[in-house]
Amino acid sequence: MSDDAEIRTLIDEEAIAARVGEIAREIAGSSPQRLLVVAVLKGSFMFAADLVRAMHRVGLRPEMEFIHLSSYGSGTESREIRVLRDVESDVAGRDVILVDDILESGRTLAFARDRLTERGAGSVRIAALLDKPMRRKSAISADYVGFDCPDKFVVGYGMDMGHKWRQLPYIGYVVQDAPEPANV
Ligand code: IMP
Ligand code: MG
Repeated sequence: MSDDAEIRTLIDEEAIAARVGEIAREIAGSSPQRLLVVAVLKGSFMFAADLVRAMHRVGLRPEMEFIHLSSYGSGTESREIRVLRDVESDVAGRDVILVDDILESGRTLAFARDRLTERGAGSVRIAALLDKPMRRKSAISADYVGFDCPDKFVVGYGMDMGHKWRQLPYIGYVVQDAPEPANV
């Protein structure tokens, strides 16, 4: 893919910022105790960074942690989740919010949720920037959803396609490669 591929905007920066603010207010309304935000790397890094700042503005003082998971395997049914980096903090008794970019099959977040529940988290809630319910394979839903996502492969605002486009400040999808410049 060339660096000039055309990206069509799906959700712009203003809409993202407004929704992130709403989610932070909803979370504050639940009066979480010893709140720990766990960002699922890598795709959630931008959403999580904006969300914890929005939380701070509405009076919350979350601590922040990271878990890096990768799912591998060829078939959609046989995929396994591997932990590349685990949460270091003690989660026992704490209200945890797991933050991810997209809830698709749900396997990644079901795995992370079960792991934190087994370690004694007081509660584990899920904040997903995007939801693709039509792709679900695990019995899981998000407590906080940024936006419903059409059944397209999206990029930007932390999400990549082959390591590209994470840096985009908005969410979009790749339309097609721009034509290569003619050889002269
Ligand atoms: P699942 O819910 O276990 O299927 O995993 C969803 C993960 O797959 C997300 O956290 C993303 O990392 C990745 N993913 C799914 N759909 C897309 C997409 O449209 N663009 C970029 N990454 C995606
Ligand atoms: Mg991900």
